Amino acid sequence: MPCMGNDCQAMFKKIPIDRLRRGMYIQDICGDWMSHPFWRRSFLLKDERDIDRFREAGIGEVYIDTARGLDDAEGVDAAEVKQAVQQQIVEAVVQAQPPLRTRTLAEEMPRARGIHAQANRVVRDMMRDVRLGRAVSLDDVEPLVDAVTESILSNGNALLGLIGIKNKDDYTFQHSVSVCTLMVTFGRSLGMPADELREAGIGGLVHDIGKMRVPEEVLNKPGRLTDEEFDLIRRHPGDGHEILLDLGGVGEVALDITRHHHERIDGSGYPDRLADEQISTMARMAAIVDVYDAITADRCYHKGMPATEALRKMWEWSTNHFDRKLLAAFVRCVGIYPVGSLVRLESGRLGVVIAQSPEEALMPVVRTFFNTRANAYVTPDVVDLASPRCGDRIVSDESPRRWKVDPRRFMDPEAA
Ligand SMILES: [Fe+2]
Repeated sequence: MPCMGNDCQAMFKKIPIDRLRRGMYIQDICGDWMSHPFWRRSFLLKDERDIDRFREAGIGEVYIDTARGLDDAEGVDAAEVKQAVQQQIVEAVVQAQPPLRTRTLAEEMPRARGIHAQANRVVRDMMRDVRLGRAVSLDDVEPLVDAVTESILSNGNALLGLIGIKNKDDYTFQHSVSVCTLMVTFGRSLGMPADELREAGIGGLVHDIGKMRVPEEVLNKPGRLTDEEFDLIRRHPGDGHEILLDLGGVGEVALDITRHHHERIDGSGYPDRLADEQISTMARMAAIVDVYDAITADRCYHKGMPATEALRKMWEWSTNHFDRKLLAAFVRCVGIYPVGSLVRLESGRLGVVIAQSPEEALMPVVRTFFNTRANAYVTPDVVDLASPRCGDRIVSDESPRRWKVDPRRFMDPEAA
């Protein structure tokens, strides 16, 4: 049967950059938005200089849409790649992490909401002061990171659920809070001691402070960046490092995270083009967390990817860009189906993931709220897929846009 509709991937093929030629329609780029100046991931390739721009940005492969441009006989079918990648992730993430939980989600949610709002205020004020050239104080940062850490240790799902909700206008601030939260969560799952967790969190909070030296019209430009504008963006890690050094009193880890969160394993990153062992563990963690949060967020120029899809994409890019062992640890930490993800169950129900299972990475706890067979909302119900009595299982991760539902509304038991 011929494939119809937007969800069909049969005409998408993955090819190496060397096979790319004018007249091909690029459907997707195997790399993150921050590493290249193309604001769209899909476009008809008209200018061959773009191929060099891909190379410079460390993009080794792209997907082409053979229905909208030239074909390539040796390209690999996108559906096959997706299946293979998912299989690799499942094999790498055999077991889930033991949950960090001393309080229930309902107990932790009100406190987490307060911390999240406070964190956004602190970051916004700090960044505004940098932008205006005012004296910047980091006095509020340490207690804030301690509060974030405490909330994560009580029940990380509360803050993890909240950081998925962003509005496009305050992206830079909210992204900083997300990176802080994810760094602490990730560091905790790796068994880092309290002082390192704090450093990791502070690094997350300030890592993009250098963006305050990038003109706002460039930072929020919805169109493709010129080479000059892209160069301005690429200065933010070095500028941030300089700002923090001038402030004084900022630890080595936070300085390292700020300067090196855009470095890539293959040396294609910036500003110092470090590679492999030259990049510290903290900076490698920050690279993973930074990209994960950026590609799952809605921006003025693109829609965020569902978390499961984002992890799959990052796994695909990890041979060149990320430390794959750390990426596997990150997937173990946030889950193959991270909290907030929309999943479809064998029973036909749709649900939002509200917690990971301690032992089974593929069987999280889900709050169901929609019946796909009846195409109607149903009374929310908590389903623990790892329970032997459950009898249901995940058949796929789903895009909320496809079903026109907002799974995060059902994260919070009070709001549902
Ligand atoms: Fe950055």
